[in-house]
Amino acid sequence: MADNVVRVCAQSEIGPDSVKAYEVGDRRLAVFNLGGEFYVTDDECTHAAASLAEGMLEDGIIECCLHFGAFDVKTGEVKAPPCSQALRTYKVLLQGDDVCVDLDKNAAGEPA
Ligand code: FES
Repeated sequence: MADNVVRVCAQSEIGPDSVKAYEVGDRRLAVFNLGGEFYVTDDECTHAAASLAEGMLEDGIIECCLHFGAFDVKTGEVKAPPCSQALRTYKVLLQGDDVCVDLDKNAAGEPA
């Protein structure tokens, strides 16, 4: 196992098709439950200082509540302006009921 794996929350804390933000060390992460699959990204929008966990989640897309930019939760890809910088994703590892992430890898398992 990679050295930089940390627990974020319990799977049972995130209802289906919803998102919550958690402080993990000096980061604030957004945990998404998309039909029972878990995805983790940075919580802060790449456009300005807004919490994406306070945005609108629909069909795997999170829309920021501040200026309505949007991202693909699974890949971090920008889906709507004014955002132009992709959202950082994290590799998720499920351990029992825990949602853990590898802080050194993105959702695709690549170094990040
Ligand atoms: Fe998210 Fe502007 S802060 S779109």
